[in-house]
Amino acid sequence: MTQQHTSNSNATWQKSLNGRLIMITGGASGIGYAAALMAARDGATVYALDRNEQLLAGLSSRAESEGLSIHTHACEVTNPASVEAATQWCVNELGPMDGLVCSAGITQEIPFLELPLSLWNKVLDVNLTGTFLSSQLAARAMVASGKPGAIVTISSSFGVTARPGAAAYCASKSGVIALSKTMALELAPHRIRVNCVAPGSVDTPLSRGVRAASGRTVSGNEQPLGRQGEPDDIATMICFLLSEGAGWITGQTYHVNGGKLLV
Ligand SMILES: NC(=O)c1ccc[n+]([C@@H]2O[C@H](COP(=O)([O-])OP(=O)(O)OC[C@H]3O[C@@H](n4cnc5c(N)ncnc54)[C@H](O)[C@@H]3O)[C@@H](O)[C@H]2O)c1
Repeated sequence: MTQQHTSNSNATWQKSLNGRLIMITGGASGIGYAAALMAARDGATVYALDRNEQLLAGLSSRAESEGLSIHTHACEVTNPASVEAATQWCVNELGPMDGLVCSAGITQEIPFLELPLSLWNKVLDVNLTGTFLSSQLAARAMVASGKPGAIVTISSSFGVTARPGAAAYCASKSGVIALSKTMALELAPHRIRVNCVAPGSVDTPLSRGVRAASGRTVSGNEQPLGRQGEPDDIATMICFLLSEGAGWITGQTYHVNGGKLLV
């Protein structure tokens, strides 16, 4: 007897985030901001956390002008009490969480030989410990709710390559990839998927700051696809990974970079 490949012809791929509750750290700027708007326009309720209250107010006005369901909360991702309070508020006021995006991040521009321990610690604290804390607290809330969930962490091309002047940043972003894979394994039995997005150069305040500090310019020629990334290029991948369409994907790192790592 020949083995038949079976397919459920009634299966519908739920790529929509309609009705989902998504928490986003670093949601007030750049990639997190784009992901917040994209998810909310797709019908999700978004809970955006950021340490910058002025930028959060900007996101709230944008959401109000478009009639989107976006709640904001000041949060410092390196502070366990702050992340705990923000997560608890989400669960108490908005209900069980379906997804988390860890987009809060900072970078640095200083040669390795001059890198002070204080700056090394600060970058690791925000990018790696912040991802650990927000993921752990969100995952605990997801496990307690008994619902499946999805976590998307943000690494960088520099999590797998190197950049002079960015030792702490590169180390933190490699750490995010390793942390995400381990979380994926440990959380799979709870039906929580964990994936990582590693952007190339994307036009945001963070990358503009690095360019201003280093004097470097971005040339489209560095990327086979001929242009720098926009925050929406990354938000598209984030929203897909949060959705049920990615229901059999976990523990992966997706490089979204216009083909930069090919050259
Ligand atoms: N822009 C790029 O080219 C690029 C490339 C690769 C990876 N990334 C990563 O993408 C993520 C988002 O970066 P972006 O380019 O959108 O930067 P951004 O500066 O526009 O946004 C980052 C947000 O995180 C917030 N934040 C920083 N530290 C925080 C803290 N301790 N607690 C709470 N909020 C904090 C900031 O206030 C800001 O709103 C970062 O992790 C960054 O490393 C960016």
